Amino acid sequence: MSLKLAIFFSIVACINACPEEPHRGLSQVPEHVGEKGWLYQIHDVQRSWRNLRNDRYSIVSSILVRLFKENDRAQTFFSKFDNVPVESLKDDHEYNKQVALVADRLDNIITAMDDKVQLLDNIDYMKRSHIERGIPRGPWKDFSRILFDVLGSAGMSSKELNSWKSVLTVFINGIAPV
Ligand code: HEM
Repeated sequence: MSLKLAIFFSIVACINACPEEPHRGLSQVPEHVGEKGWLYQIHDVQRSWRNLRNDRYSIVSSILVRLFKENDRAQTFFSKFDNVPVESLKDDHEYNKQVALVADRLDNIITAMDDKVQLLDNIDYMKRSHIERGIPRGPWKDFSRILFDVLGSAGMSSKELNSWKSVLTVFINGIAPV
């Protein structure tokens, strides 16, 4: 084998062997994630979520219903129930399945948030799985704004709400960058 070919093959072998840099698409996740102040905020979010998590299905359902009422386009992303009238969604099997998927995933994400690698993995997964479905930043911002409203009416302290706000901002900017 000529020297040129040998060099070519060793470059190809190296490229295949080098693992992809994880989370390289997450340029919008700030450096402070994982630091001490951030961890205090994460713990506020996790602690306050523990009081709400048993109601996660009704919370997520009320967020989705409000989202669909405020923004007609949001429901059209869900081909399994896009033509069900908003008032009848709560009786729709596919809708209820989706609510459970979202609520359980949200619960898992929050529970694992104090581990930076798991948090980045989760943001990465949510980003990829929703880009595939063509979900733009708008519905994400709406979802997070409505969730924040719901948290406000659940009687959280302003410190807890502040922590939620900063965590949700990191989350949304990571999934659906500006
Ligand atoms: C905290 C917020 C959200 C969570 C935790 C979440 C989670 C999920 C999960 C677990 C799935 C199932 C499939 C998969 O794992 O890839 C899914 C599917 C989907 N999500 Fe989300 N999601 C969220 C917000 C949104 C928003 C804001 C939209 C757009 C309005 C959206 C649109 C969709 C669509 C269209 C599907 C596919 C449904 C189907 O199977 O037909 N999601 N989501």
